[in-house]
Amino acid sequence: MVHNIGELVTNVAGTGEGGPLGLRRRAAVLIEQGEIVWVGPDGDAPNADRRIDAGGAAVLPGFVDSHAHLVFAGDRAAEFAARMAGQPYTGGGIRTTVGATRAASDEELRATVRRLHAEALRQGTTTIEIKSGYGLTVADEARSLRIAAEFSEETTFLGAHVVPTEYADRPDEYVGLVCGPMLTAAAPYARWIDVFCERGAFDADHARAILACGQALGLGVRVHANQLGPGPGVRLGVELGAASVDHCTHLTDADIEALASTRFDCMCHDGGHTTTVATLLPGAEFSTRSPYPDARRLLDAGVTVALATDCNPGSSYTSSMPFCIALAVREMGMIPAEAVWAATAGGARALRRDDIGVLRPGARADLIILDAPSHLHLAYRPGVPLIRQVLHNGVPR
Ligand code: NIG
Ligand code: FE
Repeated sequence: MVHNIGELVTNVAGTGEGGPLGLRRRAAVLIEQGEIVWVGPDGDAPNADRRIDAGGAAVLPGFVDSHAHLVFAGDRAAEFAARMAGQPYTGGGIRTTVGATRAASDEELRATVRRLHAEALRQGTTTIEIKSGYGLTVADEARSLRIAAEFSEETTFLGAHVVPTEYADRPDEYVGLVCGPMLTAAAPYARWIDVFCERGAFDADHARAILACGQALGLGVRVHANQLGPGPGVRLGVELGAASVDHCTHLTDADIEALASTRFDCMCHDGGHTTTVATLLPGAEFSTRSPYPDARRLLDAGVTVALATDCNPGSSYTSSMPFCIALAVREMGMIPAEAVWAATAGGARALRRDDIGVLRPGARADLIILDAPSHLHLAYRPGVPLIRQVLHNGVPR
């Protein structure tokens, strides 16, 4: 039993004070075997053999980070420093990390994933999606996903991150490799397939072919889209029924309309959402000193928005969802409630999950006790470690 909760973010729309966060005051949550079995007023709390006193603080669902690249070796601090001195980000540094990743042992890669996974958990992330994409050979993509799957059930095959140097003048051949032997080797360890659809990476035809091959094997679709400039990625994602299109930094009205057209109402805890979520990754704009995506424009059009870290050694080396919430509020036109929703329930939607990102009976007991009286403090007190305690599957971590 977690009791004496001053403010409970349930994300069950229409609950308590209403609004998307479904806020309740003076609440308690009962947990049994890793699952929430009861949510209600503190005074009505049933007996429990173990009690955690929240001390009047705010409690919210664990963060759902639906976009991270944790399997890599090396770092690119010098590239970051060069950017802060005026160099632009082009994605070319991905090949530097590919070289270091290929040269690393399984144990080195595993140690990095373990470290970043633990770092994220300390900051309140109880679900994290993990992509491959720095191996780019059949063996290196398969081992990246094998290691990722040791830490998360949300694993994504990103063999189409860039065309590796050895295929530079034969991109069609590389696409054949990704769709054929690489996908076959990766699929047993992956739930999702992703493509970096961008000038300098994969064009719409190549991206469509690769994503369709993954779909045929039962993988769900996600797309890195419209990060560095306008392009076909978002509309391709909508065309293929992607769960999420990620980055969405450069959007045209047609892109927004395409996303909004996937909206439907349902008898579910959020009352309705878009089939394809727009996942915004403000850590990338921070670290590449780029203009932030316009979340307000997406939200006003009725598009479901998620926030994620994009944790990777190049464009966004942060594992902190609270940092992304603060950026989204300060720089992207989101109010704190929208940003907190996007970092929890929004991330769950982007992963097509309804058992996480929400605190209701039947949901997984993933929750955060803040060192603060309200969810507002996540944006109001940027850079401050406000995560007092994390429960993952009902277990205090
Ligand atoms: O999501 N955009 C493509 N991939 C990563 C960046 C990877 C890197 O720079 O190493 C991203 O930002
Ligand atoms: Fe990414």
